[in-house]
Amino acid sequence: MSGPAWDLLIRSARLAAMTPGSPYGEVLDGALAVRDGLIAFAGPDRALPPGASATLEIDAEGRLLTPGLIDCHTHLVHAGHRATEFEQRLGGASYEEVALAGGGIRATVTATRAADEATLLRQSRPRLEALLRDGVTTVEVKSGYGLDRDTELRQLRVARRLGELLPVTVRTTFLGAHAVPAEFEGRPDAWLDLVIAELLPAVAAAGLADAVDAYCEPIAFTPAQVGRLFEAAARLSLPVKLHAEQRSDSGGAALAARHRALSADHLEHLSESGVRALAGSGTVAVLLPGAFLHLRETRTPPVAALRAAGVPLAVATDCNPGTSPLASLTTAMNLSCTLFGLTPAEALAGATRQAARALGLADRGQLDVGLRADLALWNADHPAELAARLGPSSLATRFVAGRPDHAPSR
Ligand code: NIG
Ligand code: FE
Repeated sequence: MSGPAWDLLIRSARLAAMTPGSPYGEVLDGALAVRDGLIAFAGPDRALPPGASATLEIDAEGRLLTPGLIDCHTHLVHAGHRATEFEQRLGGASYEEVALAGGGIRATVTATRAADEATLLRQSRPRLEALLRDGVTTVEVKSGYGLDRDTELRQLRVARRLGELLPVTVRTTFLGAHAVPAEFEGRPDAWLDLVIAELLPAVAAAGLADAVDAYCEPIAFTPAQVGRLFEAAARLSLPVKLHAEQRSDSGGAALAARHRALSADHLEHLSESGVRALAGSGTVAVLLPGAFLHLRETRTPPVAALRAAGVPLAVATDCNPGTSPLASLTTAMNLSCTLFGLTPAEALAGATRQAARALGLADRGQLDVGLRADLALWNADHPAELAARLGPSSLATRFVAGRPDHAPSR
């Protein structure tokens, strides 16, 4: 009797399906089958239909198979670096002091404006390739280092182009409200007016953004200003997310929750009332321990309170030149455990199921029938290894919509 004809069948794998209900959704002697880019079977090997076969069959030899990792917060398309600011901060300057002295986001804006599309692509591509080598199959990329119409559009085009050149889903976010550009010094509302009247409609008309983000902070924008932007995004049917409570308690998370934001990100300075606002809102709390580490922050996000309130927790790299020059999501997972107190299971859920939610993607992030067959096969035999390890990546191979990058290696 011949079984179903699948495109791919992986057998003898230890599945960490990351389905809700148990920490890892584990299946010890597991199998996973793919047809037409979607998961057609995920479960115990012994439950496979008799005669099961596929065009490509892989014996995982007991290795760990997880959903492909999802990095739901990056600024990886930018030009230049800011390593000298790292030196300045080690010498005692604060992030705000460096920014107010003309460094910070504006320094990367200057470098990014000066880079043509090919240069921007060439400088950004290795950062994405590093994420892929570490198991990422979906990545979010923000604009926000252009802060003028043409450069913002260029950043988003480069992000989309990277998704065509490399086997990965790229989701783009418009972050025109990342900082007040030098031309609008002291006139944040005038800049926001332009963002709302011209940049956002141009980005939306070009179909270049899947979401809209802002930086809510005294050195950037107030909740009232962000609220205006969010209303404009809603008029264009674009979902929103927010850099909130990174350096101060500004009420950003509550604003995000009120606007049914996909996520509120950073949250080191989140108050108890901020936690209450997020609870039950559906907004995901995205933790960015790379920025916390790189800025040598001391105040951690209120993880225990968020957990107790049932707020979904995601983990991302925040890959950017100023606060988190990090291009490894498993390293961010490790830091979320060591610095913020997540469990390795929460960290892996945060880089799969919860990260998918933070991007509004219901079709991935778990090993379940009908979902996209974005997978990562690891040279590991326990799911806690992914967060326990600090580089080099233990990835054996990735599968994007069921297609392997290369033969699994040891
Ligand atoms: O996520 N906080 C604002 N945005 C980035 C950092 C931007 C920069 O310093 O270049 C962040 O940390
Ligand atoms: Fe960020």
